Amino acid sequence: MTDTCVIGWPISHSRSPLIHNYWRTYHDIPGTYEKYPVEPEALADFIKALPTSKYIGCNVTIPHKETVVRSVDSLDQIAINIGAANTVFIRQGKTHATSTDAIGFIENLKQNVPNFRFIGKTVTILGAGGSAKSLIAGLLAENVSTIKIYNRTAEKSAALTAQFGPKIQPILPGNITTELNHCDLLINTTSLGMVGQPPLTIDIDSLKSTAVVADIVYAPLVTDFLRRAERRGHTIVPGLGMLLHQAVGGFELWHGVKPKVTSALFALVEADLQNKTLK
Ligand code: ATR
Repeated sequence: MTDTCVIGWPISHSRSPLIHNYWRTYHDIPGTYEKYPVEPEALADFIKALPTSKYIGCNVTIPHKETVVRSVDSLDQIAINIGAANTVFIRQGKTHATSTDAIGFIENLKQNVPNFRFIGKTVTILGAGGSAKSLIAGLLAENVSTIKIYNRTAEKSAALTAQFGPKIQPILPGNITTELNHCDLLINTTSLGMVGQPPLTIDIDSLKSTAVVADIVYAPLVTDFLRRAERRGHTIVPGLGMLLHQAVGGFELWHGVKPKVTSALFALVEADLQNKTLK
C-alpha cells in the first residue's frame, strides 16, 4: 500500500498529482497520488479513517489547512507554531501533521538566490493570512532580524506580533514607502496578481536597490509585481518553485526518499500551468 492523495474543497486545480506522480515514476514507487475532494464537514472523519484506508498519507489544501490541526493525533512544532498543516502521515497507526510551506519558500529562495544571507535581514511581507504565517515561521528559523507586515486589515498584522513575538512589526498604512527603503527582501503573500484577481499595485519606487523580491503566486508564472521589480533591477523569485519544494517533505515522509526539484520537473509543471492558464 503506497497510495497518497491531496484533499481540498474544491481540489480539481491542484498540481500536486503532477509533481508526486513524476517523482513516483522516477523513484519506481508503485501506486498513485490522487486528488480527493473532501467537504469541510467530512474532514474529521476522513482523517480518522486514514490509518485504515488505502492511503499512507495526504497533502491538505484550501480550506482545510487550519482545521486539520484539530483532527490529527499529533502535530510537530512547526505546525503548532503556524497553527496550520499541509501534510499528514501515519506512524504506528496514528495520524501526524506538519507544514512544509515554510521550508518550501526558504528552499525556493535559496535555489533562486544562492548568495542571499537571511541572518540579520529586514523582510517585508505583504499580507497577513495563512501563507504569511508559514513564511514568518520559516524566516524566523533562518534568523532574520525583523519582519515587517503590511496588510489591508491592520488587526491581522498586529495579531502576528502577538503570535510570533517582537521581531514581527506591523507597518502603518502611510509608512510603506519609508519602510521599503530599509527592506532586504519583499514578499507578496496576498492573492493579488493571481489570474482572475485584482493586480498588486503597491508602489515599489522607494525599494532599496539591492532588495530581493518574491511572490508566492505562481499563476501567472511571473506576476506583474515581479515584472515591475525586475525592470527596476531587483533579483526576483517566482512562486512556482515554492510549490515544488513544499512537496519534497511529504514525499520523503511517506516514501523514505528525498526527491529532487529538477529543471525537468519545473518545466513539466510550468508547461501544464501555461496550458491551463491559456485555455
Ligand atoms: P493564504 O492562506 O493564501 O494566506 P488567506 O489566509 O485568506 O490566504 O490570506 C489572504 C491574504 O491576502 C490576506 O492578508 C488578505 O488581506 P486581509 O487580511 O485584509 O483579508 C490579502 N488579500 C486578499 N485579497 C486582497 C485584496 N483585494 N486587497 C488586499 N489584500 C488582499
